[in-house]
Amino acid sequence: MKKVYIETYGCQMNEYDTEIVRAVLQQANYQIVEQESEAEIIMLNTCSVRDNANRKVFNRIHTIGHSRNGDPLLIGVLGCMATNFRKHLLEDRELKLDFVVGPDSYKRLPALIREVESSGESAYDVTLSEFEDYSDVYPNRKGGINAWIAVMRGCNNFCTFCVVPYTRGRERSRSPRSITAEVRKLVEEGFKQVTLLGQNVNSYNYQGKDFAHLLEEVSKVRSVDRIRFTSPHPKDFPHRLLHVVAENPRVCKHIHLPLQAGNSRILDKMNRTYSKEEYLALVDDIRKHHAAMVITTDIIVGFPTETDTEFEDTVDVIQKVEFDSAFIFKYSPRKGTIAHRRYADDVPEEKKKQRIIRLNELQNSISLKKNRAHIGEVQRVLIEQESTRKSPDDYQGRNDGNKIVIFPGGDYRRGDYVDVEICDATPHVLKGRVVPQSS
Ligand code: 5AD
Ligand code: SF4
Repeated sequence: MKKVYIETYGCQMNEYDTEIVRAVLQQANYQIVEQESEAEIIMLNTCSVRDNANRKVFNRIHTIGHSRNGDPLLIGVLGCMATNFRKHLLEDRELKLDFVVGPDSYKRLPALIREVESSGESAYDVTLSEFEDYSDVYPNRKGGINAWIAVMRGCNNFCTFCVVPYTRGRERSRSPRSITAEVRKLVEEGFKQVTLLGQNVNSYNYQGKDFAHLLEEVSKVRSVDRIRFTSPHPKDFPHRLLHVVAENPRVCKHIHLPLQAGNSRILDKMNRTYSKEEYLALVDDIRKHHAAMVITTDIIVGFPTETDTEFEDTVDVIQKVEFDSAFIFKYSPRKGTIAHRRYADDVPEEKKKQRIIRLNELQNSISLKKNRAHIGEVQRVLIEQESTRKSPDDYQGRNDGNKIVIFPGGDYRRGDYVDVEICDATPHVLKGRVVPQSS
């Protein structure tokens, strides 16, 4: 049994894909190891969404290559960089890669590895499929609390800054029946929470069955306590979906709603298909359905031609919406995307930096205010860790809104639900103490 070590970079979809790869390899009699030093094959499941993600992986490949000392280790690249940089990865002799495999070709991994072993040549498959949804592979999951399930893959949106439509191909959705069957199995195995994943999760469409239908079907599975989903696109939020999220007690009250930019001209150039006003109206609508909905976002600063005045629209939206938290990125041109082909990356690095600092400061103050408003509440928390980075005596879990809650440990375990009274807050976490269960 050959031993394989897999390192995962990037988004939750990649975490999930690694679980698919583990399952495929185990079925083919490979052994998955947790220590790099034991490995005979190393795989890097990579991300291409921003340049720093790429650079990290290139550095990593070099480090592995240097420590190889001529031993017959195989090294392969999976994921978005495989599709995005196939030629470069295979032709750069310094990298000494043995295989390069894109997100739709993981079932071919065992065959490709055999090919490399018998020929001594490198092998690749970066074909993108319109059909591959891996519904016939039961992922090999670790953790036992939250289970990811990709309900759709790929993206048809072509936001002009984004490489995903090129690295992961066209949208395809899994059947509700195969998804609910998997959720049933997961619940039997003891998982407490499922997170439905998709590059564009609310564009889910299986033979006319939409995402609201899927959420309802999944919530009918007995004993599934918490259902989350990520990432949706603001363009696909019909009232029925808002209603299902707001009214269904098993669907968590958190919506990640990527804004990207607050200015309508920039949004148009990004091909986001909504204006500033439409985005704000959607947030109002969400809050009309459920006033306490946790709303988080992604923002890009310094998209080509974004002026100082236009940037103020992003500031304005942050102030108006008061997101619970936000991931804020500097625009990073991605080769092959529409923005890269059409527009020069003309916002100076220093300006991007200033904008990101300004937004982070603003968002931190809002996050702190919003988190402090929870002080005194008693919240149901699903325990995820029996220690935290800072303290071995504290436990860490999440509330329904996906916020991290830290509290002194006690006579309960990972996977338990506890009621926690919130006593303190920072911009990033809530702190509290367990109170006797109310039910
Ligand atoms: N530059 C900067 N940020 C990007 N994102 C996607 N593409 C780029 C890019 N070229 C961000 C978006 C997206 C998140 C996953 O990554 O905000 O929502
Ligand atoms: Fe990229 Fe836009 Fe698709 Fe999200 S919706 S994966 S940002 S192209």
